[in-house]
Amino acid sequence: MTSPALEQALQAAHKTQQTHRSAETVSPDRVQSIFNRIAPVYDDLNDRLSGGLHHVWKRMTVSWSGAKPGDHGLDVCCGSGDLAFVLADAVSRSGHVTAVDFSCQLLDTARDRAAHLFPAPPITWLEGDALALPFADDSFDAATMGYGLRNLTDIPQGLRELHRVLKSGATVAILDMHRPASSWMRSLQDWYLNTLVVPAATEFGLTDEYAYIAPSLDRFPTGDEQVTLACAAGFDGAVHYTLMGGMMGVLVATKI
Ligand SMILES: C[S@@+](CC[C@H](N)C(=O)[O-])C[C@H]1O[C@@H](n2cnc3c(N)ncnc32)[C@H](O)[C@@H]1O
Repeated sequence: MTSPALEQALQAAHKTQQTHRSAETVSPDRVQSIFNRIAPVYDDLNDRLSGGLHHVWKRMTVSWSGAKPGDHGLDVCCGSGDLAFVLADAVSRSGHVTAVDFSCQLLDTARDRAAHLFPAPPITWLEGDALALPFADDSFDAATMGYGLRNLTDIPQGLRELHRVLKSGATVAILDMHRPASSWMRSLQDWYLNTLVVPAATEFGLTDEYAYIAPSLDRFPTGDEQVTLACAAGFDGAVHYTLMGGMMGVLVATKI
């Protein structure tokens, strides 16, 4: 028997999923090739455009995932590996991290960064699709995702996959940009994207690759909608925390 609250959540999730799909203009192949092209400058641009703050948000995300020494952690859409490295610190050498992405160029950057660390972090880098994770059910103790959810062509499927591969009691923390509720903060975010982000990317010949951020944010579910989607994917106790006046957010969801 379905409770009215759950029914309502499922209806909202379905509506959000349809909205997301109908607005979708980017295929998985295009997302993959965008990130392969961005790879050589990705880390430098992130540091420059956030003033290094993204490292703080990533630490908060790992802390919200509840990862602890000895855990097997998962970082999905790992890119050049920032979150996987922090997650590896949290699980320590008695644990292990598996990091997945479908951009082989960004994975090469991540492997290269890991090769320069001593001792080598306990991370396995894997090329794979967040929408069809190559793992058995109930495999991981904690999971993270940074700036990946917004880029998935099927967000509900990405959440269902995370839920499937997590063990019972495990938590996923998902960091991403977010459209603020306040119109003033929205204007500030548009100014930041149009005046700082796109011109900085243009210097590297990547105008189109970064101009996609604003439209992708417009069709990205709000924090409340993300909570609804997480519940529809099977998670319990989902919460969305906003950072930077709502310009950033972390969805934290636990599998009971
Ligand atoms: C903005 S980057 C974030 C990288 C890293 N997590 C960080 O926080 O710096 C988004 C990443 O998501 C990956 N991605 C997008 N869709 C994916 C999918 N379906 N499967 C695997 N990786 C995907 C891209 O290749 C890219 O590396």
